[in-house]
Amino acid sequence: MLGIETSCDETAAAVVEEVDDQTRPWRMRSSVVASQVAIHREWGGVVPEIASRQHLRDICGVVERAMDEARTSMSAIDAVAVTQGPGLVGSLLVGVSFAKSLALALGRPLVPVHHLAGHIESLFLEHGPLPLPAVVLVVSGGHTSLFHVPDAGVYRLIGRTRDDAAGEAYDKVAKLLGLGYPGGPIIDKLAREGHDRAVDFPVSRMTHRDRVAPGKTTRFEFSFSGIKTSVLRYVRGQRMGPASEAMRGVRGEPAPQPRTLSAQEIRDIAASFQRVVVETLLDRTFEAARWAGAKSIGIAGGVSANSRLRGDAAIRGEEAALPVFVPSLHLSTDNAAMIAAAGLRRFHQGARAEWDLNAEASLAMP
Ligand code: KG4
Ligand code: ZN
Repeated sequence: MLGIETSCDETAAAVVEEVDDQTRPWRMRSSVVASQVAIHREWGGVVPEIASRQHLRDICGVVERAMDEARTSMSAIDAVAVTQGPGLVGSLLVGVSFAKSLALALGRPLVPVHHLAGHIESLFLEHGPLPLPAVVLVVSGGHTSLFHVPDAGVYRLIGRTRDDAAGEAYDKVAKLLGLGYPGGPIIDKLAREGHDRAVDFPVSRMTHRDRVAPGKTTRFEFSFSGIKTSVLRYVRGQRMGPASEAMRGVRGEPAPQPRTLSAQEIRDIAASFQRVVVETLLDRTFEAARWAGAKSIGIAGGVSANSRLRGDAAIRGEEAALPVFVPSLHLSTDNAAMIAAAGLRRFHQGARAEWDLNAEASLAMP
């Protein structure tokens, strides 16, 4: 299976093969990722128009390289899998158009893949079949969603964020601290040298009324816009001094100049922010696992690269006697191997794309 992924700012292609081994049925033959991070960093975030144009420049070379590294040829490819959505529509279109043309030219079937199914299957690609039922947290720059996986290839959405994704909160907090983009890896690193209880940022909790509101289809919700605002307020307060000080300017005295936060203050803010985010993610995930009677927990997506999330999840898993699975770092962030793996799953379920397949920015989970 040749997988192609272009949903955001990574152009990726990979070859995954099925092998005769029940414990690890999928073998990654190659996985190539051309990251655009250096291009978007200049703008402080992903610029959709620039992203699509860069995908266009990179896609042919990335696919050729994936074929070379897999030491295979196009004639040996049995099917092509592509991310149909969700994501940036201009970015998705490049992958979808490329995959359609290639599959048509090769006379091979095309399999459409949901990006989050890819993140979930990254766990099965890495570890082989997880003990089921499982609860899987997909946590990235665009998503924070909890899935109940009763059987292989069946994904039921049981919770998601009602506002920002966790990765988005990392990116925004890093930006307001002047740390650059993407924020996750930088905050992760600084937080290791910070005091995680230095600042008492509030944990957002859903009220009972929120949880049982009519028309609600999910049980476990996240919210990360509140903590982002709390960090912003705290940082402003620290830089400007107490309100009475700031008021001096109003009474005709010179207003105090904002001060620069020290490196240690920034580390403490990073650590305190991260503690709250990780606790929120894990509280909800373990609560969902109890509710679902899960035999294992999976955590996937860009934020699953976070060292504290990985460490704390392992500790809690041991306490709850529940095995916790995370992908290796390469398979945590966006890649095409997970799309090829999810494509194999869908292929065996009989999924085939028509030639009028279109990119869907907000595709629903199958
Ligand atoms: O899955 P991904 O590559 O792309 C999306 O589908 O969004 O995830 C990217 C996100 C970014 O928000 C980035 O800041 C975050 O994952 N991230 C991290 C870490 N590494 C990447 N967040 C926290 N800690 C990390 N070590
Ligand atoms: Zn992703």
